[in-house]
Amino acid sequence: MNKARKALAERALDTDVVIEMLDARLPASSANPLLAHLTRGKRSLKILNKQDLADPNITRLWLDEYNSRPGTRALALDAGERAPSQKLIAACRELVPARGGLDKPLRVLICGIPNVGKSTLINSLTGRRVAKTGNEPGITKGEQRILLADDFELFDTPGMLWPKIEVEQGGYNLAASGAIGRNALDEEEVSLVLLEYLMLRYPEQLKQRFKLEDLDGMKDIDVLEAIGRRRGAMLGGGRVNIQKAAEIVLTDFRAGSIGRITLERPEEWAEWQQKARELEAVRQAEREAREKEKQARSSRQP
Ligand code: G4P
Repeated sequence: MNKARKALAERALDTDVVIEMLDARLPASSANPLLAHLTRGKRSLKILNKQDLADPNITRLWLDEYNSRPGTRALALDAGERAPSQKLIAACRELVPARGGLDKPLRVLICGIPNVGKSTLINSLTGRRVAKTGNEPGITKGEQRILLADDFELFDTPGMLWPKIEVEQGGYNLAASGAIGRNALDEEEVSLVLLEYLMLRYPEQLKQRFKLEDLDGMKDIDVLEAIGRRRGAMLGGGRVNIQKAAEIVLTDFRAGSIGRITLERPEEWAEWQQKARELEAVRQAEREAREKEKQARSSRQP
């Protein structure tokens, strides 16, 4: 078990609520399936962070979806929130009404994949309270304990919790958001997958941002070329610099310049997940068939 996993599993043991920070633009892709496994049976608060960049209508759908799950509450936040601790405390207290008071302080663990905005939120929470780190009984080195109220302890475990890519589209969405490294996936491909989604769900914002007249009959690559031309990303001989055009699309998306956009909806995610499971079942069957064949071959050998 790696260090981050171990610290998390240990802390989860005496935790009342696990807060998982998600990126509101890609709530499902930015979740960590391992976290769900390590914290099974615990009350869960989902924070859909960076809501300022996400489509508010779709954020509402995700909030409804999470709030309908037993033992789960969800709220949307962004770095502009004036009093995030009040919202956070209220949601956690609602989840575990039996805890509270000095003899039964509420213990809450906060987790999230890199870049989701966890440090920003913690900094804004600690602006008014003292953060205690390490060298205390029951607190691991590097672990942070933040007293949000006299009877409310928030723990931040050290180490990275990486996303796990189980759904192909989820990998592209993470790359588009900037959550996975620049070199993890080809930028041109990431921008094409992003454009395909924008053409389907946000054509007006796309047209407006890049001053495109009509998308009818255009493929994602045609749109990428048109964007490159509009922005002067050219190579010699009138050719478009596709790499540069891809960077423009991704930079604009990440900054929210195309508009408030969410890359996945609950029902879409369920479909993608189903397809990924079917594909995995086919792959597994192929692996088993190959293994059987290998065994049969070796038993035939003299
Ligand atoms: P992490 O600890 O989870 O890894 O994330 P961190 O807080 O470092 O935030 C990652 C990036 O996301 C930062 O931008 C941060 O400013 C931005 N961010 C955090 N919360 C929000 C939010 O609610 N809305 C928006 N729009 N952005 C948010 P950066 O470009 O990496 O750094 P910086 O330019 O802010 O220094």
